[in-house]
This record gives sequence, C-alpha cells and structure tokens, in this order.
Amino acid sequence: MDRKALEALLNDMSLEEKVMQLVQIPGSEYEAGAEITGIERGQVKDSVKRLAGSTLGIWGSKRLKKIQEKYIMEHPHHIPLMFMLDVIHGHKTVLPCPLGQGATFDPDAVKKGAEMQAREAATDGVHATFSPMADLCRDARWGRIMESTGEDKLLNSRMASAMVEGYQGDDLKDSSHVAACVKHFAAYGAAEGGRDYNNTELSEHTLREYYLRAYGEAIKKNPVMVMTSFNSINGIPATGNIFLMKKILREEFGFKGVLISDWGAVGEMINHGFAEDQRDAAYKAMLAGVDIDMCSGCYSTCLEELVNTGVVSEKMLDEAVLRVLDMKNDLGLFEDPYRGLDIDAGSIITDESRMLARKAVAASLVLLENRGKTLPLRNEKNAFIGPYANTKRLQSSWAFSGNDENTVTVWEAAMEAYELEYIKVAVGCTMLDQDTVTARGIRHVDHWQEENSKLLEEAVQAAEWADTVILCLGEDSTQSGEATSKASIKLPEIQLKLLGEIKKTGKRIVTLVFTGRPLELNEVRELSDALMICWLPGTEGGHGVVDVLTGKVSPSGRLPVSFPYTVGQEPLHYDMYPTGRPKPENGPSAFTSRYLDCENGALYPFGYGLSYTSFEYTDLKLSAQSMSASETITASVTVRNTGDIKGCETVQLYIRDVTGSRVRPIRELAGFKKISLEPGMEEEVSFVINEEMLRFWTAEEKWESEAGKFRVWICNNSCSGQPLEFQLV
Ligand code: GLC
Repeated sequence: MDRKALEALLNDMSLEEKVMQLVQIPGSEYEAGAEITGIERGQVKDSVKRLAGSTLGIWGSKRLKKIQEKYIMEHPHHIPLMFMLDVIHGHKTVLPCPLGQGATFDPDAVKKGAEMQAREAATDGVHATFSPMADLCRDARWGRIMESTGEDKLLNSRMASAMVEGYQGDDLKDSSHVAACVKHFAAYGAAEGGRDYNNTELSEHTLREYYLRAYGEAIKKNPVMVMTSFNSINGIPATGNIFLMKKILREEFGFKGVLISDWGAVGEMINHGFAEDQRDAAYKAMLAGVDIDMCSGCYSTCLEELVNTGVVSEKMLDEAVLRVLDMKNDLGLFEDPYRGLDIDAGSIITDESRMLARKAVAASLVLLENRGKTLPLRNEKNAFIGPYANTKRLQSSWAFSGNDENTVTVWEAAMEAYELEYIKVAVGCTMLDQDTVTARGIRHVDHWQEENSKLLEEAVQAAEWADTVILCLGEDSTQSGEATSKASIKLPEIQLKLLGEIKKTGKRIVTLVFTGRPLELNEVRELSDALMICWLPGTEGGHGVVDVLTGKVSPSGRLPVSFPYTVGQEPLHYDMYPTGRPKPENGPSAFTSRYLDCENGALYPFGYGLSYTSFEYTDLKLSAQSMSASETITASVTVRNTGDIKGCETVQLYIRDVTGSRVRPIRELAGFKKISLEPGMEEEVSFVINEEMLRFWTAEEKWESEAGKFRVWICNNSCSGQPLEFQLV
C-alpha cells in the first residue's frame, strides 16, 4: 500500500480503531492451549480482541491462518493482525542460547543462524521476533545473562547487528524474514544486585560509554522495533523515560520504527510509584513515545478518553498508529496477510538447519582446561555420566516454540560415534538439590535421597569400568532466563558430590558444564582433567558436543563473559578502571584496590578459551608510533599454529587510552578476527586503528578522542599479551 493510501486509511479509522492498533494482547486470547505465561484466557474484552493491532506468543501456520481469516473479516477496515513471538535462538531448530552464540565470536555465523530462525518462524506465520537482546551483562547473578551475548560492548554490538540483519534480510516483504526488535532498552542488565526487574543506577557517562553502545549499533541496521525494559534508570522507569526514549532513541539514534513496551511494563509504572493509575501510566507511556502497550491494558482502557479529553493529542496518537500501520505495510501484510506461512510445511526442521545448528554448537563450546591432553577422547572405554548425559532438555527457557523431542542428547550422539561396547551412560544424580527443586518444568522428585543413592551407585560402577569419565553437569535450563536471579552461582551440591565420588575412582575426568550463566567452578576445575563450557546448546547439542569430544572439530569458543572465583566479585568485567591504587601484578599489595580473600580478576577471563592445538603470537608491531585524527595505524602480529592439529584462533585487539578527561578502562576490546591454521602454519593478522575507535564520552560530554598515549595488545584473551604504545597527536 502506498503512503497516500495508508494515510487515507488512518484518516478513515474511528478513534477506537486507532487506539486498538496500539494494543497487544496475549495469543492465548485467540486460541486455547497457547498460553505462554500461564495467563488464563478471557482476560480481554471481545471488543479489544476484535480490534487489537497485534498479538504475541502463538505460532503454527494452520492456527494463525484461521485466526487471521476471522480477524480480518470482522475488522471494520480489514486491517491484518500482526503475530509476534520470542524466537531468540531458534523456533523449531534451536541454536545455542545467545550467550553461547556470543562465545563463537563469529557474527557471520550468528547472522546465518538468525536467517534460519526467521525462515522457520515465518513459515509458522510469525511476523516479528522479540530479538536481539542487546543488553550488556556483567552480573552472573542475573539469569537473563543467558539471553545476552555477554559483557563486552563491541562483541554485543557486532552480534546484535548481525541478528537484525539475519532476521530482517534486505526486504521485509520477503516472506522468509521477520521484523526484529532490539531489546530491552535500556540497561536492563545493570539491575542492582543482579536481581531481575530491579533499579539501575548509572551515570550518563557509564550509560553512554557501555550500556547504550550495542543498542545504538544494532539500530543502525534499521530494526523495525525496539522494546522498552522493565527497569527504572536513575529512578525513572524506561517505559516512561523521556530522556531515553525521545532524546537518545529517537533524536540521537534516529530510530523511526515502532517502540513496544515489555510485557505489562506500561502498567508496572504504577508499581514503580511513577504513575498514579492506569490512566496516568498510559499518559506517561504515550509521552515517552511508546507505540504498542504489550498486555498491560492501560492503552485499551484509558487512551481513548485521554485523546477525547485532549490530554493526549490526536496528532500524537496518529503518529503512533501510523508507525504500526507502516510496520504492517513494510511486512506486506495488506497485500498478503498470510505472508510466509506454509500450512503444508510439514517438518520445518531440515537436515540443512540441523547441520547449521550442529556447527554452531561446536563453535560455541569453550575449552577451559585440558590437562595431559585428556581431550580429544581416546578410543578407550568412556562413561558418560551426569544429569546432562542423556537429557533432551538442552534448550533454554526462551525456546518454548522448540520441542525437546527433536533434541539429540550427548549420549545419543556418543552412540553414533563409538562402538557400544566402549561406552556406558549413567545419570549419576538428579539435576537439582532437593531444596531447590522448582515447579517450573521440573518434576518434584519423591524419595530424593534414596533415588540419588541408587543413581550414585550406578555411576560409580560405570566410572570404575571406564578409562575416562565424561561428567555432564550444569545448571538446569529453568535456572536461567527471566525472573531467575540467584545469589549463589554454584553447581547443585548433589552434582558436586557426584564429581567428588567419581574423582575417588581415579579415572580421568572430562567435565562438561551446561549453563546459561557463569558459575563458580573452582572445585570443578581442581577435580577435572578437562573442563568445557557447553552453554545451553539446543537441538543439535549432543552432536556438536561429541564432534568436539572426538576431535572431529577442534574447540574454538572464547568466553563472552568473565567466570568469577566467587559470586562475591559480581558484577565482574574485564574492562575495569585502574583506580588510584591499582593492585600490582607482583609484590606487596597492601593499601591497594584488592580483596583480602580473592583475586581481583576472573577465574577464567573474557576472551579466554583453549584449542586442541597451541598458538604462538610473535612480532607484534605498529605501522607508526603516532597518528593524527585523520590518519590510521596498522597493528599486526604473527600467529603460528605450534601444535600438531588444525585449529581455529580468535585473535583479539585491545586498546587502552592511558590518560583521559575521564578515567579509562585498563583495556577494551577494539577488534577480533577468527583464523584457521594448519599445524606449523602461520599468518600475519592485522587491524587498522582509526581515530573513531579511540572516542569516548569525555568530561565535556562529547563523543570524542583525546590526544595522548595509547597501548595496544593483539592477543588471545583480555588478560594476556604485552602492549605496544602509540601517540594520538
Ligand atoms: C518478557 C520479556 C521479553 C519478551 C516479552 C514477550 O517479559 O521480558 O524479553 O520479549 O516478555 O514475551
């Protein structure tokens, strides 16, 4: 539909119709059995159902076709309903959770994964996904760190941008793509205490320097939507925050798309104590420029009266409605309201999508320890033990449109890779301790003690039979995601007990940790010969993990987030400030910035990960000792594969601005490149440093670089390497 026709449509709509275009209601209102949040049907009046502009949380080509046919027929102007869904790391073929995708340091691969997700979702009638989550996360206590790509602003920027491109493609009318939604704007990951939905207190400097960066970069890729976050920022809820939504988002970032609230967030401004009632909440959300009210009921209940009484101008309303109509038009819904959905799709999962997922899993795994080259596994007797050894629950709590039945377990993949006489499996223990068994997706375990005694006995027998034990431990998938903040980030006691008992058998132990967040792994590290982080790997989890265990694929993942010695260090991030009393690398550290009982840094730092081979970095050099703002410097290093098998290395560029009008981090990731080298081969890897890369939010509140000394590392993680220096003149 052309612009003129769209505006004519808008002018012909009644006030009620316009208001309802800004209303989103749960999909369960249109169809039983679609509840995604436990909200019972019938919460919404029929008049709202008939006119609501969009719905969320339902999928399925046949189901959505039926709903759309009825909806369009009953709508006074036959405007199509929009279907939105959280497809954040897979619809039917579920990829590794976003934190695992961050570990690949491969935006191109992540873009391909988003393309596959969009294709599968569109086939099922979905028009928009609530992804990418571009929240910077430094706090392992916050369960939604699982949905992020970690603690670094550059890595998050590259990953969120890649996801927007993958979901949307070049033309949204292409029905194998879906609209993207950058979320949660803004700084949701900085929740105080790591407690979900909590306040965030951030200086404008920290907000701009760290937390806004990835949103801003992703918005340059023109996502159709942005979602407001639940949290308040410096005392003002995001959903009513005019500074964030008007000055930053609309004016500075130039975002012209649809701003949607998070679920119920408009109404929650009452709980925040920022709005008197639903009418006040609706008013404040409109003032902030929130176009769609997701499921709070404030717009459907109060907006028409606010416009009728002139409190909200019809002009402001029309601008919001036109953005929603534009979205439907850009998706081609007026011409084809059934775009993409294929009622005869059959199995949406294909061999191709499985292969893409399998490669993504292998690339996401981060090898942290490999003493005595325990990995890759020898062709001896291998026992796969632990609650993650043979479970199909390898996808996150945000992959609810996927189906565990499609998942390949570690054990199933092991049976494909090894002769059965050389492998055994044993559960070893329950996933959770009795006192943390939760109702959400976990069967309550009766006779828990007796069950675990029996499981342990079987596991020890399997271990005694084996040469090597692959111990598959981790945090259950219901323990990360929304509303899952934790004050302890240890593995369940029952799993640590299993590890201890297996250790007593004296066998080699390869510990695989499946998790959606960094965990405290000191004890696991001590008792394991090899240790690998597997995240929540999804549908092809078993295949990807076993491909690495057998050496078919060499591990190449690098940590997108710091793993602490203890939760007491959280929030923890590598790009910390030096302080006036930096703790010396060596020597006396009294009266310096340190803990009496713990290191400052991470047990395993950002960017860290091992391969089955080894790499040597030599000959770090800069093309010049100084540069002006209009010049560049090329930093280069020679990387050599000094091992005896092929490997993939993520070469990382870090820069430190030594002196600034504000204090500057001890180093910041400024670039990364993945290279693959055959044994004995070497490659020169170079990065061009330009002035733009040196800019920061100065004391004068400008985004500028400042002349002075800079240090440069090219190395293999955020704590390694020796720097060279140059001057910006
Ligand atoms: C949830 C989440 C958000 C999600 C939305 C729709 O509360 O905060 O990430 O996209 O609701 O499901």
